[in-house]
Amino acid sequence: MTVHFENPIRETARALAQSKFSARASHFDQKREYCWRNVQDLADAGLMGMTIPVEYGGRGASIYDVVLAVEEVARECTLTARVLVEGNLGAISAVMQYGTHEQKSFCAPIVLAGDKPAICITEPDAGSAAGEMTTTAQRSGDNYILNGKKHWITGGGVSKIHLIFARVVSEKGEDEGIGAFIAIKDEKNGHKADGLTIGKREHTLGLCGMPETEIILENLIVHQTMRLETPSGDKRGFADLMTAYNSQRVGAGTIALGVASAALDDAKKYMKSRQQFGRPIAEFQGLQWMVADMDTSLYAARLMLHDAAKSKSDNGLPFPDVASAARAKLFASEAAIKVVNQSLQIFGARGFGSDERVERMYRDVRMFTIGGGTAEILRNQIAASALDMKLPQTRDGYQPNEAPVPFAVAAE
Ligand code: FAD
Ligand code: COA
Repeated sequence: MTVHFENPIRETARALAQSKFSARASHFDQKREYCWRNVQDLADAGLMGMTIPVEYGGRGASIYDVVLAVEEVARECTLTARVLVEGNLGAISAVMQYGTHEQKSFCAPIVLAGDKPAICITEPDAGSAAGEMTTTAQRSGDNYILNGKKHWITGGGVSKIHLIFARVVSEKGEDEGIGAFIAIKDEKNGHKADGLTIGKREHTLGLCGMPETEIILENLIVHQTMRLETPSGDKRGFADLMTAYNSQRVGAGTIALGVASAALDDAKKYMKSRQQFGRPIAEFQGLQWMVADMDTSLYAARLMLHDAAKSKSDNGLPFPDVASAARAKLFASEAAIKVVNQSLQIFGARGFGSDERVERMYRDVRMFTIGGGTAEILRNQIAASALDMKLPQTRDGYQPNEAPVPFAVAAE
């Protein structure tokens, strides 16, 4: 007999998702409304800020614990799963890993109370090429003055904590690489963040309850104590920040997995009840093999995501290794899109209507090969790792890090 030891975090997440989030998911989608009620439930159950160390009020949970919970929540509500990911991974884990005592003490209670920090990287002219961002953080005495425009920022207008990536300029005008700055916008509690305004909200295909907005920075003043000091030094700050971001990539891949697993489960139930040609459609081998492929791809995606969640970066930082995270997010997101699409197919016309949640899942899951590093960018990162080459994508061309090795096929 196989004994399964359940993870208490996963159990709590599953119970909450099934008892509360499932019934509310359609409402938030249709009304394009942020899931405040679910956020409160997550916070009350201790699922926000789980990765925050115990000394700052969290549970010191691992990335693996988080992904177990994320899959359960994503099965019922994609929107809430995104809150869970960003309330535990990405920006908040960067602050908890790199931040000062003051920064951690400042951010922890806000996240534990339900805030999903916004990570502000992408700009209109710097999407995949995020390293070409033009937002600047000009040093001026004890402060940095931030100017620029971000777009497609998840949680714009609902998030309080903003982790803003910007090109740091010294008082002498020197470029000091890309750094990250913490800005809190929470007017009720006296954090005005004048100079940080919310611009246009995108009208999205899926994930409709989550605001995706511009963030406009006009002379936003951030005190020097709110700059994240990364361990490899200022010039290498971007690499350290992206290393922390690998945790969010694993989280995003897990959302896609959860959505697709639920879509497949729905389709399997439907196949046994829907009759055509005088028998359940589950008896048709064409659909049986479709299910076999779907089941296999999600099984593989889960193994890759769990492996990535437990991996560690080469430079010793406690975040997933870049290639493991990239492979897992790439595989899971592409598999999930395919599985949800095929699940919808199994429902026939019924899958095309909004009475079935697979219709919402189909719209939601499409995002995961785009946001958080596109499938093509992830392939570049996997190729760089597999080939052990730096693969800059600019017109400067490739810079092999060793002399070409002659090709030879081993003799039998
Ligand atoms: P582009 O970079 O313009 O790419 C267009 C196409 O070209 C893509 O298919 C891309 O893969 C391909 N391409 C580009 N370069 C290469 C290359 N070198 N090799 C091969 N193909 C290439 N950003 C944030 O900072 N914070 C957020 O919270 C956030 N949330 C998001 C939420 C959603 C729902 C979405 C859709 C996006 C979000 N983003 C966020 C932005 C996201 O990270 C970017 O969309 C993504 O990095 C791609 O940038 P882009 O859209 O400008 O596409
Ligand atoms: N994990 C760890 N290190 C990373 C990393 C990651 N995910 N992404 C980049 N780095 C490191 C690189 O290894 C490189 O280090 P090196 O100087 O030792 O070689 C350094 O950061 C700069 O990366 P590089 O690929 O040389 O820079 P680039 O200017 O070409 O930038 C990226 C490419 C990182 C912007 C691109 O690969 C990318 O990830 N784009 C998607 C952006 C994204 O995910 N946005 C999500 C917003 S929510």
